[in-house]
Amino acid sequence: MADTLLVIHTIDEMRREVAAARSRGLTVGFVPTMGALHAGHAALVRQAVEECGFVVVSIFVNPLQFGPNEDYERYPRTLDQDVALLREVGAHVVFAPSVNEMYPRPQLTFVEVEKVTEGLCGASRPGHFRGVATVVTKLFNIVTPDVAYFGQKDAQQAAVIRTMVRDLSMPVEIRVCPTVREEDGLAVSSRNTYLSPEERKAATVLYRALGHGKALIESGERDAARVRGAMRELIESEPLARVDYCEVVDAESLAPVSYIEGNVLLAVAAYFGSTRLIDNMAVEA
Ligand code: PAF
Repeated sequence: MADTLLVIHTIDEMRREVAAARSRGLTVGFVPTMGALHAGHAALVRQAVEECGFVVVSIFVNPLQFGPNEDYERYPRTLDQDVALLREVGAHVVFAPSVNEMYPRPQLTFVEVEKVTEGLCGASRPGHFRGVATVVTKLFNIVTPDVAYFGQKDAQQAAVIRTMVRDLSMPVEIRVCPTVREEDGLAVSSRNTYLSPEERKAATVLYRALGHGKALIESGERDAARVRGAMRELIESEPLARVDYCEVVDAESLAPVSYIEGNVLLAVAAYFGSTRLIDNMAVEA
């Protein structure tokens, strides 16, 4: 556990703290989040604390990555609880800037990653990954981490960040950590708090569909359309679920495949009421 957890709201102070840590020879680990922290975030921070002497966690609900009809306004904001959890897991700094601190004037500069943003969530949420890539670039410029940690649950986001870091020669190492699941398989997510008890129960269908797809591939199925169809059918058998997408993609490029070989990613997204949840599973054929 860190002796003290510093909560910082300004870019200047964040820069000063990181410079002081570097001058003490510490490796800087960074976990960017939008808050409403859960066991998945805690796992990322724990790994960062194991590997780095100075760990910064940002909490910023980034308006740039939400579409006009999405949940920016109602996204849970739970700073006090988040700070308590981060104290427990041993982070050193919470960077929680206001929207005005991050975007004091209309943003005219954006980071756009092509190809890996085309399908999956990129197709359902136009502009989302432009908002993510832009804020992560800005946060990297402020925190200047040596290592940054992302969750595998947001597999496309991780691919976007990896591509951006590689293409723009950003001096940061990206680590992607395994998805944390509830006992019944549901991937932990800040958005799970929106679910009614019935929707929460129904939402396990995503994990079951991924498991079904994986079992088909492991038993020799190589036709991606059949695997997609079987996963979709299972999700559609749940009356409270409405499928957004159900895909089998190449694990590296995230392009849809027709014949399954090598490393693929099964990826699903569905609405439960107005709550959109995503999940994925890597499979080696
Ligand atoms: O995964 C998230 O919480 C957000 O997309 C991120 C990476 C913090 C950028 O706002």
